[in-house]
Amino acid sequence: MTAGPAIPLEDELGDVLDKAQHCAGLNEEQLAARAGVTVEKIQNAEDYRYDDLTDDDLHRVAAALHLNEVGLSALARNQYPRPRTSGLPFCVHPMHIPFGIGVVNAYAVVDCATGVGVLFDGGTGFEALQSVWPKAVTRIEAVFLTHPEAEHVGGLSGALRQHGLGTFYGPRGGCPRPECWPLGEGETVVAAGYQITAFSTPGHCAEHNCYVVRPKAVPRARALLISGDLIFAGSLGGGYFSCSQVLQHARRILGALPASTVIAPGHGPMTTVENELKYNPFLV
Ligand SMILES: [Fe+2]
Repeated sequence: MTAGPAIPLEDELGDVLDKAQHCAGLNEEQLAARAGVTVEKIQNAEDYRYDDLTDDDLHRVAAALHLNEVGLSALARNQYPRPRTSGLPFCVHPMHIPFGIGVVNAYAVVDCATGVGVLFDGGTGFEALQSVWPKAVTRIEAVFLTHPEAEHVGGLSGALRQHGLGTFYGPRGGCPRPECWPLGEGETVVAAGYQITAFSTPGHCAEHNCYVVRPKAVPRARALLISGDLIFAGSLGGGYFSCSQVLQHARRILGALPASTVIAPGHGPMTTVENELKYNPFLV
């Protein structure tokens, strides 16, 4: 595992409340009434001002929105747990590309000795991807796309050209270009010595894949989940297509994988299945 810079969580408490409120179909007044907390406190929290939120307020807001109170309180106190993500049987190089006020991530998963491996997502553009490309990554033998949004697709064509590849893999029904080969639920590709299995996880957008990566030779080794914009450390992706599907797939995927599985999200820092099952505010 390559130690990356300490990057902030993708979502603060205010973002989590905003997403949860949106998914519950409540406005601020309705949430305040349901939780028994003043509208001003709700508005302050969604504007990233948490000083006046007491533990009791957080307890009641968590109950009103069916959120994990422990994780929600940890976010409010800026103490969301960051687990160790080392111990994988290959090297993961997160490439953090500035995007909005945070980062969008691409990942190279490679053999630590040779630097040969596979790429997940392409960042905002090829120049941006190149600017954070690790020297240790020497060759890419296959490329995978989690979902066809601009900040994840941008650098793909350039990366394909640079590594002499004609095609990449993407979600079935959500392949943005003719050179994209669709992968549906449970379909597995073997590339660069890795077994990469797609899970169809729509909800953030209409078509979205997560990928589980294991070394082909050691299928029981600690696994890596490329979670795209389904699961973030401390949050979930926005349910722009379907909130209920985001929740359903997040629960399904986290429930299906070993607790030790490392998660590499499309935004924010890496985490683990164990950590998110315990603390992710959306998972109760
Ligand atoms: Fe995204």
